Amino acid sequence: MSTSKQTVLLLGATGHTGKSILRGLLKDKSAFNVEVLVRPSSAEKSDVKQLKDSLGLKIHIVDIVEAPVEDLVQVLNGIDVFISAIDMMSQLAQLRLVTAAKQAGVKRFVPCAFITVCPPGGIMPMRDAKEQVYQEIWKAHLPYTIIDVGFWHQLSFPTLPSGRVDYGSIMPKSRLPIRDIHAGGNAPNMLTDVRDIGNYVALIIKDPRTLNKFVCTYSDVLSENEIFAMLEEMSGEEIERKHVSAADILAMRDTASAILATDPTNVPALMMLHQAGYNNNKYVRGDNTPAYAKYLGYLDARELYPEFQPITFREYLVELLDGRAEKP
Ligand SMILES: NC(=O)c1ccc[n+]([C@@H]2O[C@H](COP(=O)([O-])OP(=O)(O)OC[C@H]3O[C@@H](n4cnc5c(N)ncnc54)[C@H](OP(=O)(O)O)[C@@H]3O)[C@@H](O)[C@H]2O)c1
Repeated sequence: MSTSKQTVLLLGATGHTGKSILRGLLKDKSAFNVEVLVRPSSAEKSDVKQLKDSLGLKIHIVDIVEAPVEDLVQVLNGIDVFISAIDMMSQLAQLRLVTAAKQAGVKRFVPCAFITVCPPGGIMPMRDAKEQVYQEIWKAHLPYTIIDVGFWHQLSFPTLPSGRVDYGSIMPKSRLPIRDIHAGGNAPNMLTDVRDIGNYVALIIKDPRTLNKFVCTYSDVLSENEIFAMLEEMSGEEIERKHVSAADILAMRDTASAILATDPTNVPALMMLHQAGYNNNKYVRGDNTPAYAKYLGYLDARELYPEFQPITFREYLVELLDGRAEKP
């Protein structure tokens, strides 16, 4: 483990993943000096003011898309580790940061991965956008770590007939209930509680074994059938299944692609494409497993840090059923 204190610059500290990372890093003040990068249009947001006023963090206001690369180099000078938790639609905005980080001598660049394990090359468009950033890193010969987390607990539960867990769902009320079983529901998937992402990131970036490596995190490996059965057993309610076939998932992907071919900025079609991509990856292909991650060359965080006990999916469901879960 690295012993000297590292200066970490975090992009996305006000987002879901970024908040978790910030919490994880701030728990270990002896290891990390944390600074945050914020875009000019968000500089006056209350979340950002809180980072400065309540937490006393140094804030770098810079436009990563429009500012000259020299300005980005200035921000990155003296930074040991740069971490990006940018939203899913903005992956390519990281490209110029790669160039700037190389010039500034950043010792570890952690691009925004934080998704399921998936090979590049047309399976999942979001994974392919991230791949463009990874390739830029490799071309620059920049030290890196790519961290994937499977799917969040917070996005992995069906709703109950009583409506008891609706409050925790990311879906708008109009899109409830959630009771889809995809492609038979038997594919196992790695799951991580979003609150543990930061705890894992803190362990991973202190660890020289993870430099220039892919790492995957998870607390559980569960299929949809296992998840439905677990929630039924814990709640005493029966969930009516709605079966979505592999063919339905691939047809959804093709429909979205056809719309986007004529209208590339069609947001509902983009969302549909991303959802179909995840479903193809997780349920049709069944890529998001520790065994497949190992095959792709990932290190397994459960093996690297056996002493760390992540929040299990069952523990998350207890909170959800008690009305204590936080909606992402
Ligand atoms: N594994 C899973 O289950 C799962 C689930 C959801 C997401 N993800 C992945 O996790 C990643 C992060 O997603 P999220 O949902 O945590 O994101 P989010 O909540 O939308 O937060 C995005 C953050 O990025 C910041 N940001 C966006 N554009 C920026 C720019 N140009 N300059 C500086 N900051 C910028 C936002 O700041 P502002 O305050 O300025 O908007 C915000 O802090 C995504 O890339 C996605 O692929 C994975």
